[in-house]
Amino acid sequence: MIKLAKTIYDLHPLIKKRFSPHGFKDEPIEKEQLLKLLEAASWAPSSYNEQPWRFIIGIKGDTGSYDKIFSCLNEHNQHWAGSAPVLLISVGKKMLTRNNAPNRFHAFDSGQAVAMMSIQAAHEDIYIHQMGGFDAIKAQKIFHIPEEYEVLAAMAVGKIKHDPSQMDEIPKDEIFYRNRKEIESFTFENDWEIPFK
Ligand SMILES: Cc1cc2nc3c(=O)[nH]c(=O)nc-3n(C[C@H](O)[C@H](O)[C@H](O)COP(=O)(O)O)c2cc1C
Repeated sequence: MIKLAKTIYDLHPLIKKRFSPHGFKDEPIEKEQLLKLLEAASWAPSSYNEQPWRFIIGIKGDTGSYDKIFSCLNEHNQHWAGSAPVLLISVGKKMLTRNNAPNRFHAFDSGQAVAMMSIQAAHEDIYIHQMGGFDAIKAQKIFHIPEEYEVLAAMAVGKIKHDPSQMDEIPKDEIFYRNRKEIESFTFENDWEIPFK
């Protein structure tokens, strides 16, 4: 299945291309490609350039990390995410390294890192599906993640069956359109919920 974005404005093709697939092609991701995605994540902006994001990497058939991440996913996500060649868990460092004060932007910044990674991934014909449906407490325990870090999201990473650049070859029932809220519904001016016109 391929999900397309119908946008109002002429957005960057990679923004339109990215989506969260519920199934992946049975094809590994090259280590270099994965490192490229992780480097893209590292170029995200972050408060005080703290770079609070951390990632646990699971490559199918490798060290057992993949199986450990998979075991944390809820039943719904296990149903489809096992087709992905790579599973990740994102983790945020809760305290600033410079003064050990709470970093209220750690999840915000970690999310930006994943967004960067997702766009770079789209450029490489790789797709990332983030998941909140997993047992974060179990992940914290089985990966021995210290208390000063917060487990944020799991991710499935892989290639998809259909090539979005070959739309003519994709069966119609494999194409879905994604929706988004209207801009006026989430942008305000002068006061809360006064729509920005
Ligand atoms: C933090 C986060 C948690 C999510 N959790 C799940 C999940 O547990 N299971 C799932 O199938 N999709 C999950 N999603 C995917 C969203 O449903 C998806 O991003 C949203 O429907 C928009 O679709 P799109 O990414 O294809 O544009 C999650 C996405 C994010 C960012």
